[in-house]
Amino acid sequence: MLTKYLSSLIAKAAENIKTIVLPEGEDERVLKAAHIIAQANAARLIIFGQEDKISAYFSENGWNMNNIEVLKPENSPRLKEYTDLLYNLRKEKGMTYEQAEQTARDYTYFGTLMVKAGHADGMVSGANHSTADTVRPALQIIKSARKDRSVSSFLIMISNDTPYLFSDCGVVINPNEKELADIALTAAETAIQFDIEPKVAMLSFSTRGSGKGETVDKVRNATALAQHALKSPEYQGLGIEIDGEMQADAALDKVVAKKKAPDSHVAGSARVLIFPNIEAGNIGYKLLQRLGGCEAYGPMLQGLNAPINDLSRGAFAEDIAGVIAITCLQATHQHK
Ligand SMILES: CC(C)(COP(=O)(O)OP(=O)(O)OC[C@H]1O[C@@H](n2cnc3c(N)ncnc32)[C@H](O)[C@@H]1OP(=O)(O)O)[C@@H](O)C(=O)NCCC(=O)NCCS
Repeated sequence: MLTKYLSSLIAKAAENIKTIVLPEGEDERVLKAAHIIAQANAARLIIFGQEDKISAYFSENGWNMNNIEVLKPENSPRLKEYTDLLYNLRKEKGMTYEQAEQTARDYTYFGTLMVKAGHADGMVSGANHSTADTVRPALQIIKSARKDRSVSSFLIMISNDTPYLFSDCGVVINPNEKELADIALTAAETAIQFDIEPKVAMLSFSTRGSGKGETVDKVRNATALAQHALKSPEYQGLGIEIDGEMQADAALDKVVAKKKAPDSHVAGSARVLIFPNIEAGNIGYKLLQRLGGCEAYGPMLQGLNAPINDLSRGAFAEDIAGVIAITCLQATHQHK
């Protein structure tokens, strides 16, 4: 069953067709997700795997393969081109041509190289690979969109039909003040892409000095850095508001916000929640998903030159379809 939010993402993706690589064609959940997206004409998909097996699976289910191409990287006429590309990108980091030849055959690297070469707009992988294995090629090959800023991740969490954006629950393990400020700014930009109001709360166990310690100082200083950055011309007119440090109840509950941070424009109505480190973020979103009944999409990467997204290994086909649609929308914004 597709949820309301997922259906809306798919419909939006269909407005501007993108090409997305799915390297994990051996996984039934990926094939089901591909069917959901392809039959809605929401994207063109390139699936890696054995064509006869994949087309047999589709015909057993009575599905057609419109909008779907299957390829086997090791037989691709582009293997040499991608090997050269990889070698040229990584030789200064010590990669030999022989290593490039081997690495380019790895499906995650091959897919990432397709995106780098402009033969696809984005990639979704990770149903059977760790986050680090999916994310590392993207960091090495696609790289940060801005040299001065880290790549991080976000989730879209749906609670009672309202979307929230959480960051960073998946990449930067223990951000310093500057990295935390960057995460807040990038997350605000991502929120705008997904029509989520960019009201950003910098979360802590403290609200406005109620708690003390190094971690509170980190969040408070990161907030100041992000607020300062908002004064630059690139952020004018976007309506981004960032405030902190504050607890999650002060961020989300108007009554608590009135008591703890009465002068804040963000407290009580935050839609973007920035966690002080990956532990708080990762544990927080999984608790909400498992005990709080929230739908969770992600973690997806933000701040890359082209969208590459990781899947949770526990993802259902519908979750994967959601991440594909989100990747299409990121690709659309990337080329604006
Ligand atoms: C993302 C992650 C894999 C990168 O770490 P790593 O593999 O050790 O990467 P390295 O430090 O070797 O860096 C590899 C490249 O990526 C770059 N890089 C690493 N983190 C980056 C970031 N956040 N933004 C931009 N570039 C980054 C490095 O500069 C390096 O580039 P170079 O090789 O061109 O010089 C690591 O941060 C990680 O494991 N994060 C947690 C993932 C996770 O388990 N999440 C929980 C489940 S959702």
